[in-house]
Amino acid sequence: MALTGTHATAVDQMAETEATQHKGGPVIEIDHVTKRFGDYVAVADADFTIAQGEFFSMLGPSGCGKTTTLRMIAGFETPTEGAIRLEGTDVSKTPPNKRNVNTVFQHYALFPHMTVRDNVAYGPRSAKKDKNTVRKRVDELLETVRLADFAERKPAQLSGGQQQRVALARALVNYPSALLLDEPLGALDLKLRHVMQFELKRIQREVGITFIYVTHDQEEALTMSDRIAVMNAGNVEQIGTPTEIYDRPATVFVASFIGQANLWSGRQTGRHNRDFVEVDVLGSRLKARPGETTIEPGGNATLMVRPERIRVTPAEQEPPTGDVVGVRATVTDLTFQGPVVRLSMAAPDSSPIVAHVGPEQDLPLLRPGDEVHVSWAPGASLVLPGADIPTTEDLEDMLDDS
Ligand SMILES: Nc1ncnc2c1ncn2[C@@H]1O[C@H](COP(=O)(O)OP(=O)(O)OP(=O)(O)O)[C@@H](O)[C@H]1O
Ligand SMILES: [Mg+2]
Repeated sequence: MALTGTHATAVDQMAETEATQHKGGPVIEIDHVTKRFGDYVAVADADFTIAQGEFFSMLGPSGCGKTTTLRMIAGFETPTEGAIRLEGTDVSKTPPNKRNVNTVFQHYALFPHMTVRDNVAYGPRSAKKDKNTVRKRVDELLETVRLADFAERKPAQLSGGQQQRVALARALVNYPSALLLDEPLGALDLKLRHVMQFELKRIQREVGITFIYVTHDQEEALTMSDRIAVMNAGNVEQIGTPTEIYDRPATVFVASFIGQANLWSGRQTGRHNRDFVEVDVLGSRLKARPGETTIEPGGNATLMVRPERIRVTPAEQEPPTGDVVGVRATVTDLTFQGPVVRLSMAAPDSSPIVAHVGPEQDLPLLRPGDEVHVSWAPGASLVLPGADIPTTEDLEDMLDDS
């Protein structure tokens, strides 16, 4: 489970290669878009582009403005300020049916009295497209979504996942410039959702159409996306590849919303050398990797270390040597989680420390109350601008609301 340096680099390179493969002109440009409902700012100055063929996700807690942004791209809402361009043309005032995008909602409505084939063919047939062309395209898409053998069935004779794939095929049949998906897997059970995540990604690669995917589920976004926009209260906090966002979150919010993170507040005291700074956290002065935001000496800072980057050694053993930093801690709780043991500890200043310890660490049996050394490589840490740190309960509340 531990993300070693070499592993992270390989993943970075992979992400980079994929990003290059997806390079094309922008399909969608969100140009300084703000959306207000009365006085309420639902989306604040969103400004980004989405490239041809990209799988782009908008991720964030309930009410952060994901659906509103998607609805502006689709044309169901108009921006209060700014412009939206689709393949270079300003569509801010173009009605939804005149935009070459399609939307798949969580509650997709298939025609119950029509077969799978007729559901998928409905759009192009109503547009009076050539019969043979339509048939060929529908067959192709039914292959892609693996429903060729179900073409003559009615929706009621299909499972939830199969119905969702019919909805997808129907939305893709007209070659839209982009497919917009708003929590399309929300109604499916967890296991099927996992299967569909890989299916969606495969289908997107096969058809090569830009997907813009809205979700509040970080795992879903990490699994499928080329890039993710993390939103919080109407603001886009960061846009990046899954690796970038996980490894170098821009803010404490992003660090805590994506994956699990130790976040300790303190102060940045100064520079250690060209590449590293020093921070006072957990009652110690520690060498740490600086983030993108410049923090003045003495300024508030939060140190982030992912639980899988932390090494735990019993206090009676020698602590690890070399380029590592760490503190003494007391074990407070242990939970077996399958691939890792989740170890909760308390630092000398009683800040909580969480480590995910895999079998490769060969840790002897520990009990609450045991003394340990907790250490990590300075390169595995990240200094973020100080902020009110959301607690685990805060985050769970956010997720419950959505
Ligand atoms: N038509 C509207 N009138 C007034 N307020 C609205 C309207 N539509 C959305 N809002 C508000 O704008 C904010 C953003 O809503 P939006 O639907 O974009 O959130 P979301 O990120 O999609 O959340 P969820 O994950 O719950 O779907 C919310 O506070 C919502 O109440
Ligand atoms: Mg929504």
